[in-house]
Amino acid sequence: MRQSCRAVAALAATAKAATLADLCTVANVQSALPANGTLVGIDLLPSTVTASPVYNATGGMSSTATYTYCNVTVAYTHTGKGDIVNLKYALPSPSSFSNRFYVAGGGGFSLSSDATGGLAYDAASGATDAGYDAFSTSYDEVVLYGNGSINWDATHMFGYQALGEMTQVGKPLTRGFYALADDTKLYTYFEGCSDGGREGMSQVQRYGEEFDGAITGAPAFRFAHQQVLHVYSSAVEQTLDYYPPPCELEKIVNATIAACDPLDGRTDGVISRTDLCMLNFNLTSIIGESYYCAAETSSSLGFGFNRKRQAQGSTTSTTPEQNGTVTAEGVAVAQGIYDGIFNSEGERAYLSWQIGSELGDAATTYNNETDTWELNIPSTGGEYVTKFIQLLDLDNLSDLNNVTYDTLVDWINTGFVRYYESLQTTLPDLTPFQSTGGKLLHYHGESDSSIPAASSVHYWQSVRSIMYPDLSDEEALAALQEWYQFYLIPGAGHCGANSLQPGPYPQNNMDIIIDWVENGVQPTALNATVSSGVKAGETQMLCQWPTRPLWASENATSFDCVEDEASIDSWTYTFPAFKLPVY
Ligand SMILES: *[C@@H]1O[C@H](CO)[C@@H](O)[C@H](O)[C@H]1NC(C)=O
Ligand SMILES: *[C@@H]1O[C@H](CO)[C@@H](O)[C@H](O)[C@H]1NC(C)=O
Ligand SMILES: *[C@@H]1O[C@H](CO)[C@@H](O)[C@H](O)[C@H]1NC(C)=O
Ligand SMILES: *[C@@H]1O[C@H](CO)[C@@H](O)[C@H](O)[C@H]1NC(C)=O
Ligand SMILES: *[C@@H]1O[C@H](CO)[C@@H](O)[C@H](O)[C@H]1NC(C)=O
Ligand SMILES: *[C@@H]1O[C@H](CO)[C@@H](O)[C@H](O)[C@H]1NC(C)=O
Ligand SMILES: *[C@@H]1O[C@H](CO)[C@@H](O)[C@H](O)[C@H]1NC(C)=O
Ligand SMILES: *[C@@H]1O[C@H](CO)[C@@H](O)[C@H](O)[C@H]1NC(C)=O
Ligand SMILES: *[C@@H]1O[C@H](CO)[C@@H](O)[C@H](O)[C@H]1NC(C)=O
Ligand SMILES: *[C@@H]1O[C@H](CO)[C@@H](O)[C@H](O)[C@H]1NC(C)=O
Ligand SMILES: *[C@@H]1O[C@H](CO)[C@@H](O)[C@H](O)[C@H]1NC(C)=O
Ligand SMILES: *[C@@H]1O[C@H](CO)[C@@H](O)[C@H](O)[C@H]1NC(C)=O
Repeated sequence: MRQSCRAVAALAATAKAATLADLCTVANVQSALPANGTLVGIDLLPSTVTASPVYNATGGMSSTATYTYCNVTVAYTHTGKGDIVNLKYALPSPSSFSNRFYVAGGGGFSLSSDATGGLAYDAASGATDAGYDAFSTSYDEVVLYGNGSINWDATHMFGYQALGEMTQVGKPLTRGFYALADDTKLYTYFEGCSDGGREGMSQVQRYGEEFDGAITGAPAFRFAHQQVLHVYSSAVEQTLDYYPPPCELEKIVNATIAACDPLDGRTDGVISRTDLCMLNFNLTSIIGESYYCAAETSSSLGFGFNRKRQAQGSTTSTTPEQNGTVTAEGVAVAQGIYDGIFNSEGERAYLSWQIGSELGDAATTYNNETDTWELNIPSTGGEYVTKFIQLLDLDNLSDLNNVTYDTLVDWINTGFVRYYESLQTTLPDLTPFQSTGGKLLHYHGESDSSIPAASSVHYWQSVRSIMYPDLSDEEALAALQEWYQFYLIPGAGHCGANSLQPGPYPQNNMDIIIDWVENGVQPTALNATVSSGVKAGETQMLCQWPTRPLWASENATSFDCVEDEASIDSWTYTFPAFKLPVY
């Protein structure tokens, strides 16, 4: 026993002294692969291994740094299935490897196709083609084999399985590659936003014991609710039979920001407290204000395959000058959108974007022949309904004829049940992750106009109540903070800063989670920097949910993090339109 320990230590020392070229060989990678039977259901194919050093490459997370790493590819098949899943890994030089494995999230309907994201953190990392060519194909392109026929393999792989398996293979591969001693910890991290945030939640929920730290931003989870929400704005316009000029909605958003910015105690261009805006501001006060947007011409080249087609496809579209005053109808559309989805019984089916968020999904299209603004259905939502609900291989709904709010609720319910196990991604019991020491940093831009910030709040509340059913809210909060922390980012949009509200955005989340995981430093705030606007350069230490920021005065340089029951209540939802619990 002692001897083998010493042998392992000697090997590890050798690996540390080894150069990248020494380790980056097909034979070394093959010998590091987990043997068939070790990972039940995953048969690695050693003959597919490639390994070659890459020196001084640009890329990874930084545009200036260069990276040197071993570029590894390998395929596996699911036992007895005959499929092929291609993996790639980037393993840093032994001299700059810090015993870390890193998984990056993708976005939209894509998994990350880049394996080099971990290099900036001295981590090995990987990417998977999920068995459906995910390096170059978006999952929505393959979700149907044809009308009515769902590709469940791709659905489960995209949903959670591909990243979990890439991690399960990548960790022993990394250990073997560097000959890590058995008692050396390989710290494993996830980082992603939007669908990447959903992917991170899928890993925390399904492969919790594999991960030590996860950073999940604005997760696109509660998938059925989230995707149908993307057609809700159009449905409001159709129901109210009012198609606002985009400039009118822009004005409503701008006027809301101007009115609600001071409610948090400081006038800095940012609604740091959308809850106070919701509770204290009435959109009807904007009626009658004037708006103006200049005419705009935009050209697109089209996507023709030959020159002739391309010439035909190239289009110039012009939106006219928009000059008017905000109408009661325009305000009713905005209010309806911010209120969220209800069925005809008045039962809530879903929440919505915080007041003051942009209303992008509500953008209408200009018809230059009739000189009117018309219904435009965002394909984010339309494609979900056609492909995932109606199971028709179409890229968008063509209209909303006969579509009522009850229809939306039916669509949600269909998607909720059909993809409950694959895409919904809201399992609230994180015990395997928590009990093996996992740490979760979850954040969301408060004025996200794509995925509502309240969607994240609801999941946090679900985890709290499911995991700590017998504790008071205060006790549960204290227990949760030790491993799962949630932060709202004032003014921020979807996975980034928001030009309409130039506020803070977190800069060094990975530093924070590495310190938490590897050094036991439990965060008390997220470190965020304001990059533009009147407060450009200011650092704000963001409040941990459920505390909320409040500036003591206009001249304050930092806010207090306060408890405010009425505000928390305004973020708290139930969804009686469904019989199933909505986590
Ligand atoms: C694992 O099983 C696959 C077949 O499922 C086979 O092709 C492969 O060679 C096996 N790997 C090893 C290391 O034996
Ligand atoms: C990579 O960059 C380093 C530092 O600039 C340099 O010393 C080294 O020769 C380069 N390696 C290759 C293979 O270009
Ligand atoms: C990594 O290896 C694969 C397989 O040989 C190759 O296709 C790819 O271009 C390589 N990537 C880099 C950055 O060298
Ligand atoms: C809204 O505010 C933005 C940013 O200040 C500005 O660019 C835009 O023109 C405004 N739009 C309207 C309709 O007032
Ligand atoms: C806003 O004001 C209008 C008009 O006074 C009123 O009908 C409406 O109920 C108010 N809305 C809220 C949410 O208080
Ligand atoms: C409407 O726009 C199209 C291009 O989008 C253009 O070809 C056409 O001339 C325009 N019609 C009018 C009446 O302006
Ligand atoms: C908008 O229309 C009003 C009333 O017709 C006019 O007084 C004003 O000058 C117009 N504004 C712009 C910028 O064209
Ligand atoms: C569907 O989405 C596409 C792409 O976003 C858009 O161009 C098209 O106008 C939409 N269709 C309708 C009916 O709104
Ligand atoms: C799938 O269904 C749509 C809508 O009915 C139809 O337009 C399309 O042609 C069908 N596709 C095939 C391959 O049959
Ligand atoms: C809408 O529903 C009515 C009644 O069910 C039906 O007669 C009509 O054809 C439908 N219209 C469309 C465009 O589907
Ligand atoms: C916050 O982040 C900035 C930029 O990354 C860094 O310079 C600063 O040291 C960080 N502050 C704290 C308290 O972590
Ligand atoms: C804020 O600072 C300005 C200028 O420094 C000063 O005039 C003003 O009285 C201060 N306001 C408060 C509330 O302290």
